[in-house]
Amino acid sequence: MRWRNGEHGYGIVTKVLHWSTVALLVTQLTVGYMMETDGDVPDVDCDPPGEDRSGGDTSDAEEEQYDRLEDRCEAAQYLREERADDAVGAAWSDLWSGDLADGELSLAGWHVLLGLAIVAVGVLRVVWRRTTPLPPWDVRLTATDRTVLHRVERVLLALLFVVPATGIALVVGSDDLVPLHIAAHLCFYAALAVHLFVVLRRRVVGRMLWGRPAGR
Ligand code: HEM
Ligand code: HEM
Repeated sequence: MRWRNGEHGYGIVTKVLHWSTVALLVTQLTVGYMMETDGDVPDVDCDPPGEDRSGGDTSDAEEEQYDRLEDRCEAAQYLREERADDAVGAAWSDLWSGDLADGELSLAGWHVLLGLAIVAVGVLRVVWRRTTPLPPWDVRLTATDRTVLHRVERVLLALLFVVPATGIALVVGSDDLVPLHIAAHLCFYAALAVHLFVVLRRRVVGRMLWGRPAGR
């Protein structure tokens, strides 16, 4: 078992870091899409039944009671939407105040923790990449494949920091940054698609699993 990359191909540390990132990202994207946001809170019709009779057919007391019911229902709905909208922000604050570990972790709490874990693995990957050489290229990869792979790998590594950074900016900054967070992970999908296209097309996936003696 070789720890470092070398003439033999990728070492165990690079492989473990690579596949841990993939596992963390798959989990994080699933949690991201499952989390409830304000748009997911079902609409509630707050008009009390019978209110349509109001205006003429009902007494002032009845009218007032309908209004009170409607106000209470609208306030509860507003609260539900606000809570869903700020779930990640609340989990983020709980994390720093130490409350997150006490109770059961919500999906929003997982989203924050996984995001931070992805940044931590990203740091390890960049440090490891600087301290161990990349193995020689696989002979099945053309000159263009190598250039594309090399550039896209850098983009993928950068996005391991950019995507969580846009998430953090959105919880500590403003909700207006939601499109930026979404755009960042769409860029990630685009880069990943190119990465996968090249490695699958040239059938070099095995190099990141069991390794192959020939080339990087
Ligand atoms: C690599 C890390 C991350 C990935 C891949 C990721 C991905 C996602 C995805 C897929 C969604 C759902 C978007 C949609 O509904 O279309 C989402 C939503 C969200 N993420 Fe992240 N995220 C990451 C890190 C973070 C971090 C670190 C934070 C903040 C601490 C964060 C805050 C949020 C918030 C607040 C939403 C809800 C946005 C809304 O209101 O629609 N994310 N994220
Ligand atoms: C199922 C998805 C994935 C597959 C099948 C896959 C496969 C591979 C393979 C086969 C290589 C070696 C290419 C070669 O040198 O011949 C590689 C390298 C690499 N992959 Fe992926 N990959 C996947 C997802 C990802 C993701 C999500 C990232 C995001 C950071 C990533 C980042 C990298 C990087 C940076 C390298 C260069 C080696 C290193 O520095 O660790 N890959 N990948």
